[in-house]
Amino acid sequence: MSFQLDDSQGLGTRSGTPFQRFRRLRRTEGLRRLVRETRLSLDDLIYPLFVTYGVGIRREVPSMPGVYQLSVDQLASEAEELATLGIGAVLLFGIPEHKDERASGAYDENGIVQQAVRELKRCAPELVVITDVCNCEYMSHGHCGIVSPTGEILNDPTLELLAKTAVSHVRAGADMVAPSDMMDGRVWAIRQALDAAGFVETPILSYAAKFASAFYGPFRDAAESAPAFGDRRSHQMDPGNQREALREIAADLEEGADAIIIKPALAYLDIVALARQRFDVPIAAYNVSGEYAMVKAAARNGWIDERRVVLELLTGIKRAGAGMIITYHAKDVARWLREETGTTSLARPLAV
Ligand code: PBG
Repeated sequence: MSFQLDDSQGLGTRSGTPFQRFRRLRRTEGLRRLVRETRLSLDDLIYPLFVTYGVGIRREVPSMPGVYQLSVDQLASEAEELATLGIGAVLLFGIPEHKDERASGAYDENGIVQQAVRELKRCAPELVVITDVCNCEYMSHGHCGIVSPTGEILNDPTLELLAKTAVSHVRAGADMVAPSDMMDGRVWAIRQALDAAGFVETPILSYAAKFASAFYGPFRDAAESAPAFGDRRSHQMDPGNQREALREIAADLEEGADAIIIKPALAYLDIVALARQRFDVPIAAYNVSGEYAMVKAAARNGWIDERRVVLELLTGIKRAGAGMIITYHAKDVARWLREETGTTSLARPLAV
């Protein structure tokens, strides 16, 4: 028996069943490029930086190959590299020399992040400098807030520290602050404090839906911020909760957030997609340290093709609805995207 194919209407007929020929538009890279719905761009990427005390320090984080703790004197060359690569935004984390139970290093005018912001703004004024606002790196016990004698993380007293920290970052020159502590009311507290200090024009990028995740493990090595006891489940979200994530986002927007972060990214793409439908604000997804470490480990073993896997993962995050992606892969992606556009015919001079 043979098949009768009538394709004149764009439909094929096989045993009387109409079907569509999707493969027509997949035949060549030129066609695929024309119909591609989601494209990664360097404009989407935010690169996290870990700044540490000391001089001449460039210390690789063991669980995050390719990611370094840098001392302030290293930032000028780092900024130059980012500019060459075309990466336009960084998210700063600080590792202070001294930690205490009031997180005083977090809001010290000469704290590590404040110094780093000033240095970056001096050598790369165009670079968008976003600062992570949290207490965990500055507390001797590694918790995100003030801890009561019974071990409880106190919400309202912590707000004041966060607000002071945010103001000091902006005073140092930060373009945007990103509170990641997950205390209730912190966006409101930070907005009030920024406005009172005259920074009405400085935006807040809030980690609105941040889950209590095992994927932060390598970050806590990098930022030296693992809690000495207990965990972060009394303030970060339960991984099972989708509706609550949408309420968290709505609440942060009501409190004055200008843009939001969903974190981690890969196990939470449903939240990204729903947030994209429901809220008309810029959305970032944080492709966190554990997600990075898994890819690096598998790539080092030769088990996956790192470049293709990373580009596929980040495309997935963008396709889900994130317009900004915070990722440790940013520098590699910049090199790969450059190579790719370098080989397309459009990038060649017309005379050739
Ligand atoms: C808190 C903070 C964390 C991350 C970003 N900000 C760690 C935590 O909540 O324990 C994690 C980022 C990552 O894993 O890449 N300051």
